[in-house]
Amino acid sequence: MSKVVPWSDALNIGIPEIDSQHQGLVDTINELWEAIVRKAEESDVARILDELQRYVVSHFTAEEALMRVQGYPRFEEHREEHRAFQARIAEARQGVATGNLPELALLHYLTEWLVKHIQAGDRDYADFFESRRKPRNVLSRFVSALTGSRA
Ligand SMILES: [Fe+2]
Ligand SMILES: [Fe+2]
Repeated sequence: MSKVVPWSDALNIGIPEIDSQHQGLVDTINELWEAIVRKAEESDVARILDELQRYVVSHFTAEEALMRVQGYPRFEEHREEHRAFQARIAEARQGVATGNLPELALLHYLTEWLVKHIQAGDRDYADFFESRRKPRNVLSRFVSALTGSRA
């Protein structure tokens, strides 16, 4: 089966660790699609959702730590988006525990959310980090020039 969410350069935000975590998320969502389409056993679906939950928690924790360290101004709203996504996955996991496998609507939601979130919210913080880096370099060169020291 071809990948439902193909990885493309349009999903790269230019921070290698984060890009590879995003690839891992895309892979896991593809695995979930594949499991639902082939009507896999509940236990398989539960395992993939558990993996997705763990992945999402560690990825969001890493991003949120980065955003805090960098003083990202839209941290709160970004974190709210993360929470909403986590809540939907937790709800789906709960559903499997009570015998309801995720429906295609959930898979569409996960896929669309991830692609949009990476291309809007995640790219926004990456751009912010980048914009902070440049002025600092310029500033340090300026200070060096004034003081005669080397940056
Ligand atoms: Fe992300
Ligand atoms: Fe994010």
